Amino acid sequence: MSDLSLLILQTLDNGPIEDTSVVFPSIETNIMQGTLSSLMAKSMIVFKTIEQELWTLTPEADEILEKGSHEIRLLDEVTKSLEGLKLADVPKLLGQAGKLGQLRAFKNGWIKKDGDKLVSNVSSKPEDVTAKDLGIIKQTGTLDNAKELAELRKRKLIVKGKKVSYSVEKGPEFALEIKKLETDLTPEMIQSGAWKTATFKPYNFDAEGAPTQSGALHPLNKVREEFRQIFFAMGFTEMATNQYVESGFWNFDTLFVPQQHPARDLQDTFYIKDPIEADEPEDKTYWENIHKVHEQGAFDSIGYRYPWSAKESLRLVLRTHTTAVSSRVLHQLAKDPKPARFFSIDRVFRNEAVDATHLAEFHQIEGVIADYNLTLGDLIGFMDRFFTRMGVSKLRFKPAYNPYTEPSMEIFAWHAGLNKWIEIGNSGMFRPEMLEAMGLPKGLKVHGFGLSLERPTMIKYALSNIRELVGHKVNLDFIENNPAVRLDEELV
Ligand code: PHE
Repeated sequence: MSDLSLLILQTLDNGPIEDTSVVFPSIETNIMQGTLSSLMAKSMIVFKTIEQELWTLTPEADEILEKGSHEIRLLDEVTKSLEGLKLADVPKLLGQAGKLGQLRAFKNGWIKKDGDKLVSNVSSKPEDVTAKDLGIIKQTGTLDNAKELAELRKRKLIVKGKKVSYSVEKGPEFALEIKKLETDLTPEMIQSGAWKTATFKPYNFDAEGAPTQSGALHPLNKVREEFRQIFFAMGFTEMATNQYVESGFWNFDTLFVPQQHPARDLQDTFYIKDPIEADEPEDKTYWENIHKVHEQGAFDSIGYRYPWSAKESLRLVLRTHTTAVSSRVLHQLAKDPKPARFFSIDRVFRNEAVDATHLAEFHQIEGVIADYNLTLGDLIGFMDRFFTRMGVSKLRFKPAYNPYTEPSMEIFAWHAGLNKWIEIGNSGMFRPEMLEAMGLPKGLKVHGFGLSLERPTMIKYALSNIRELVGHKVNLDFIENNPAVRLDEELV
């Protein structure tokens, strides 16, 4: 509690304070206001602001106060010189003040001209009204004579200011000492009974309140949402991807990935320990078709011709690509074959060495298009349209190999910033071994393509290390404050 607060309360005890600047002349206005406001917040006092016009002297006026007005100084010089003051000597004696003094002394009728001399026109020394008035203004801040006040202002001897002071009265909670105000009712106060005597601060319903913590979309989710909108706009339906654990059957065998393929190695795929195996799929014809197409060949294919193991096929894995999901959905489509477009954007897992651009899990964006008589040209055309919507317009395709597509193409995009072609995805036309085994008709062709979600996100947010985007090293500020993303702007 400040001494000033106490002083104010003690003064008030004897009656209201009319004007704080009179009662407490040495207290600065802002300190006074702060103290009064805090007492008012406690309802101990009420106060009103008094604003007064306040005139202050300019440096020139201060000089007049000290030496007298220009006109009186000139008159003094004139009186001093018995034979009159030579006009030419005025500037020498009085400098700048001489000219003004001369003008005003003439106006007042104090002097007159006698040839090239100035002589006195008064019998006794007149009162220096200018100096006197300035003295009053210096003392009181104002002058009763409004005309004179305006004149002094015009002469740039005074400037207008403002004086703020306060009138103060007792408030409803007036007391001679200041009680501590509690903000919160605490469990301790309830236990000790202190709440009974405590005084609580009134609620301030006008306060804005502290900003509430809210969730923020991770950049991956923002970019994911943009991709979803592109897919929806192009007539795609979203596939259900809520199953991270798949059997080798759906993740590999249905996709014509032979059981000795290196992708199925422990070094590349995470296998589940418990339970170790899935149940056999319900569609026994399909299960047999897959067995047959791998081991002996079928649907015009000579197959891989190796002893296909049902046990290996049923081993549970963390899905290594979302093409496992596409396979399930295409198998569904085989029940009622028709043109269709599906997409998914979700997490996949690979037993990879973790480095600046690789994690053991990432997100895949995958699209599948089923239609009659599709060709590779249709796939390339579609890719052009799809990636143009992402702001990627310069594409190149390179022949590649996937066990489940033929032909297969890697997709490269021109990265203007890096000034080179970068690989952005993988695509192809699903093999008849895969589609016909499901029961899809020969004429219905299916395109597929996939890309990672992390790659475009890192490019968009200019990140060079994937750990800035995913994992425990992610800066929460970055997550909370990162900008929204638009894919139709230049991506690469
Ligand atoms: N599954 C492939 C990958 O993981 C992407 C792909 C999907 C390729 C569909 C062709 C067809 O890279």
